[in-house]
Amino acid sequence: MLSSIFLAIIVTIDPGSAFQPEFSEPIDNLTVPVARDATFRCFVHHLGGYRVGWVKADTKAIQAIHDHVITHNPRISVSHNDHSTWNLHIRNVQEEDRGQYMCQINTDPMKSQLGHLDVVVPPDFINEETSGDVDVPEGGTAKLTCRAKGHPEPHVQWRRENGEDVIIREPSGQRTKVSSYQGDILRLVKITRSEMGAYMCIASNGIPPAISKRIMVTVNFHPVIQVPNQLVGAPLGTDVTLECYVEASPKSINYWVRDPDGMVIPSPKYDVQVVTKSLFEVKMTVIVRNLHKEDVGTYRCIAKNSLGEVESNIRIYEIPGPTRLYAPLDEEDYNEQFGSAENDEDVVSNSVSSDRANRIVIINTGSPPRDGGHQNHVPVDSVSNGDGCFRIKKLHKFMFSLVLWQVVRLGGSW
Ligand SMILES: *[C@@H]1O[C@H](CO)[C@@H](O)[C@H](O)[C@H]1NC(C)=O
Repeated sequence: MLSSIFLAIIVTIDPGSAFQPEFSEPIDNLTVPVARDATFRCFVHHLGGYRVGWVKADTKAIQAIHDHVITHNPRISVSHNDHSTWNLHIRNVQEEDRGQYMCQINTDPMKSQLGHLDVVVPPDFINEETSGDVDVPEGGTAKLTCRAKGHPEPHVQWRRENGEDVIIREPSGQRTKVSSYQGDILRLVKITRSEMGAYMCIASNGIPPAISKRIMVTVNFHPVIQVPNQLVGAPLGTDVTLECYVEASPKSINYWVRDPDGMVIPSPKYDVQVVTKSLFEVKMTVIVRNLHKEDVGTYRCIAKNSLGEVESNIRIYEIPGPTRLYAPLDEEDYNEQFGSAENDEDVVSNSVSSDRANRIVIINTGSPPRDGGHQNHVPVDSVSNGDGCFRIKKLHKFMFSLVLWQVVRLGGSW
């Protein structure tokens, strides 16, 4: 005590004394990700015979004095360059290392300065407090929770995976659409089927990497069927398409029934298809090929899931219409090649059409043929009905073409 007073007097007398230690620079504050290493540097002038110590300020735990580590923490070490730079090394930094570190010189009074260590931690989900996939009945509430730890405190936002808006319904009934929602808990109140899908919660705190979790929200409801056309009229011999749009969740089992035969099974007669339109929508289609008299009647599309079953009827009725028959020669193709025998009129347009790819001429007979299914059959009696005049003309034209064809062929082979 006496000696230090004596020293102080000397210092006062001689301000230029080289014996009084000083800090030459402040200590840098450090921000270090967890598990990395950190080093504090303490810069001292004129240390002389004094010693430098490191103390953790909050706990007052002495870390090191001079070149001896005092703490039992094996991750702490010290080093120095000359007697001017004194380092405190913290290896594999942990969250408990966070805080102020004091560099001291054992002068009297003691001299010290502080450096702060911040240990940052990227976000991590707390699994026990984070939702898994959710199943909710339509009209119910899905409560999605994502809690993340990290330092600084992460914040959580929610988005839909498909990019659609998140719908927030206030207790007041007010409804807001947002592209992202901030908060640990997302409540989807009075949820509807269109809100079904994957929701992503994203936790971030500025320390990479940000993390996300995908939560699948399934909204369950009784199946529903919508039928665009419940009455489908078609001429015999044509292909008839029946469509039902099904909405169901969980996914329904979908099938067609033809009364009284039972299930409509895929076959050359029935082309059965199911196309998925969304998570809960499918389009059921059956194409009834080459409509026969016995195919006319009622078909039912049926959708069944764990919440119930629904069906809808579609009736096919026969309309008098074009009947297909295969022409031995496509007259128009012929005319294109060799020129038309008559180019005056366009009788063809209304009642006859030509399907070149299939070489099929469709003739409107005005009434359905009695034996509807026979495609390669020209109903002879139809020549004498309302279109008789036309039919005869057509026959003439056809015969003429045949004659011409022969002539040209003979001409070609000569
Ligand atoms: C370290 O942070 C403290 C506040 O915590 C500040 O007063 C001090 O100036 C900082 N040190 C340096 C070297 O920036």
